[in-house]
Amino acid sequence: MTDDTPSDDETAGADDVTLDPWGSSTVSDYEKLFGEFGIEAFDDLLADVPNPHYLMRRAIIFGHRDYRRVLDAMQSGEPFAALSGFMPTGDPHIGHKLVFDEIIWHQQQGGDAYALIADLEANAARGLTWEEIDEHARNYLLSLLALGFDPEEGTLYRQSENRELQDLAFELGAEANFSELEAIYGFGGETDVSHMQSVVTQMADILYPQLEEPKPTVIPVGPDQDPHIRLARDLASRARYFKVTEAYASFELTDAERPLVASAYDARETYADDPETPRCTEAAQWLAEQGVDEFPEGVDEATLSATVEKLENAGMEPLRPRTRFFDRNATDEAFEALIDAVDGEKRVFEGHVDAFDLTEAEARDLAQDVEVAHGGYGFVPPSSIYHRFMTGLTGGKMSSSIPASHISLLDDPETGYDKVKSATTGGRQSAEEQREKGGRPDDCPVYELYAYLLAADDDEFAERVYEECRNGDRLCGDCKEQAAELMREFLADHQEKRDEVEDLLEDADIQLTSTRA
Ligand code: TRP
Ligand code: SF4
Repeated sequence: MTDDTPSDDETAGADDVTLDPWGSSTVSDYEKLFGEFGIEAFDDLLADVPNPHYLMRRAIIFGHRDYRRVLDAMQSGEPFAALSGFMPTGDPHIGHKLVFDEIIWHQQQGGDAYALIADLEANAARGLTWEEIDEHARNYLLSLLALGFDPEEGTLYRQSENRELQDLAFELGAEANFSELEAIYGFGGETDVSHMQSVVTQMADILYPQLEEPKPTVIPVGPDQDPHIRLARDLASRARYFKVTEAYASFELTDAERPLVASAYDARETYADDPETPRCTEAAQWLAEQGVDEFPEGVDEATLSATVEKLENAGMEPLRPRTRFFDRNATDEAFEALIDAVDGEKRVFEGHVDAFDLTEAEARDLAQDVEVAHGGYGFVPPSSIYHRFMTGLTGGKMSSSIPASHISLLDDPETGYDKVKSATTGGRQSAEEQREKGGRPDDCPVYELYAYLLAADDDEFAERVYEECRNGDRLCGDCKEQAAELMREFLADHQEKRDEVEDLLEDADIQLTSTRA
């Protein structure tokens, strides 16, 4: 879909791949997020998504971390959850609608759905008063319900009123230190403590759906929130009682060394006197003869020689695959219980136990069961999906602080109509040129309105707009008129639904007036 688009990319560069949750960065090159930050392309698993949402089909949801886990649960009827949070700093707008829709879709696929009001964060990091927060929070919630969130099935909360959440935040804070927040968020000596507290609160939000029982959880967010996701994934695994790894002998290997020993084990037929019991010295010798480039994932010399040395030191000990449980945070009682629970041959060491008859998957399940039975959380690392940011109607970033750049879900339908009519387009200088060369839907905020919102589930319609624009069959005046009318309709309809869900919101299990006001 990109070829003859003009190279108006000069603005990319400085901020094209910074991910800053509190900054105002736009992301101009989504592909870079894959290589540089390890976000994976959503495209690769689209085919396995049951009834994919149109945001997925249109690649507006473009990336993910570990979403396969959630899909597996969805497909096998296992529990899973979806959660996202909203800072009540202004009116909900059409950008927030993406996230509302994502939560609602997961709820409709059978997930436990959570939406939270990040009022502590709004108060701490943005300095809003509680009165302002209450008003905005109500507006977010009404739109969420109007779009189809079922508050009886799902969970709504505000950070300030959720004691369990705050306790979890306090606990998780013990797993993170200042240097780490400094490295991830650029915090420094001047950063206030409440701001740091709002980070651990968000970590607790992300893990909150797992308090009752561990389950795959997806956090739909914009890519600016990815630093939070990475930290939450780290904290989730640090809080675990046991770490499960593959092992081949009694000594420890790093994650980088392990695959080398695995390949030495796989090659045992070629060097061992008795391939039933390949000796560590034999494996060391074989490994020393391999060059670094014989390993496809790329290995450095230092890792290779460190591994050889460990194998040499182990001498005649045979290499034998096993799964290893490290005691990380377990109570003594839980570690004892784990040892008892391991079936088949096992060997117990100071801080770990080796199991010879369990697959890695069985070992992981067992570790989690024992942890949960002994008072641990057993957190599954949270997954995420990332959507593209909408371009502002005036070009540039869509921002709550520039009214003309976005359409608020509370905008009067006529105002919405007018904003669309005066939006920038990807059109040409003259109608004549447009007929000849075609328009540029990939650079057109109006086309985005169709794709992200106005065409809703109708792919055929979205594609038709795209093609007609590209072919020069569609001119911007009419195109905007059509979009503006659809927007007027959407807003009128949405606002009517907001009125209808007032009662539903009053009955929902969430406090609408802050006790701190
Ligand atoms: N920090 C998010 C924002 O700026 C809001 C938020 C709080 C959140 N807790 C969350 C988002 C948990 C996702 C998941 O909008
Ligand atoms: Fe955008 Fe429509 Fe003009 Fe194409 S015809 S550039 S989609 S406004």
